[in-house]
Amino acid sequence: MKSIVILISGRGSNMRSIVAAAAQQRWPARVAAVISNRADASGLEWAREQGIATEILEHRSFLSRDAFDEVLAARIDSYQPDVVVLAGFMRILGEAFVNRYDGRLLNIHPSLLPSFPGLHTHRQALEYGVKVHGCTVHFVTAKLDRGPVVAQAAVPVLDVDDELTLAARVLEQEHIVYPRAVRWIVEGRVVLRDGLVRVVGEESVQSLLFGR
Ligand code: GAR
Repeated sequence: MKSIVILISGRGSNMRSIVAAAAQQRWPARVAAVISNRADASGLEWAREQGIATEILEHRSFLSRDAFDEVLAARIDSYQPDVVVLAGFMRILGEAFVNRYDGRLLNIHPSLLPSFPGLHTHRQALEYGVKVHGCTVHFVTAKLDRGPVVAQAAVPVLDVDDELTLAARVLEQEHIVYPRAVRWIVEGRVVLRDGLVRVVGEESVQSLLFGR
């Protein structure tokens, strides 16, 4: 049984979708722990109710980013994870941390990368006027919101959209695409070579578009 550690900072809806999929689809993996850098992250309570180990490690109580990263890594490593999943974890992680988990640190970003890195992605998409928006699951590298793309899902942008409606449409896709990508990894189907990802047995990209 493989081990997954999930890092959150807030409500943790992506975490829930992964925990639920792992149980319902009988993955060869379990979520061993959920760690938050904020004590008030509402996702923690849900994780506790599921009987998952939870930890709080507040970045504010550390003097430097490196000091925080080092303790965080020690806590993560105590669960011997095969995959570390960032699910709305709103802290930039330093290079040493990222390198330590090279090839097993995943993130979901609410845009079709490389478009709209950083914050307020839905606002950026609306201001730019794109007609298609979405989300990206990628391996984390030292460059912010960069890294080999594992999966993407696209949604239409409608004339009537505001940030909230667009965020909701994208989030619905996040809940489909993120569990799917984590599952591929724990099933050993993700091949990462020269910065590019190939998913064994997943030739069709259609399944990732508009939630199909
Ligand atoms: C999600 O939309 C995720 O893509 C985004 O934060 C939200 C977390 O929601 N992540 C980032 O912006 C990372 N740069 P959740 O806590 O309900 O999963």
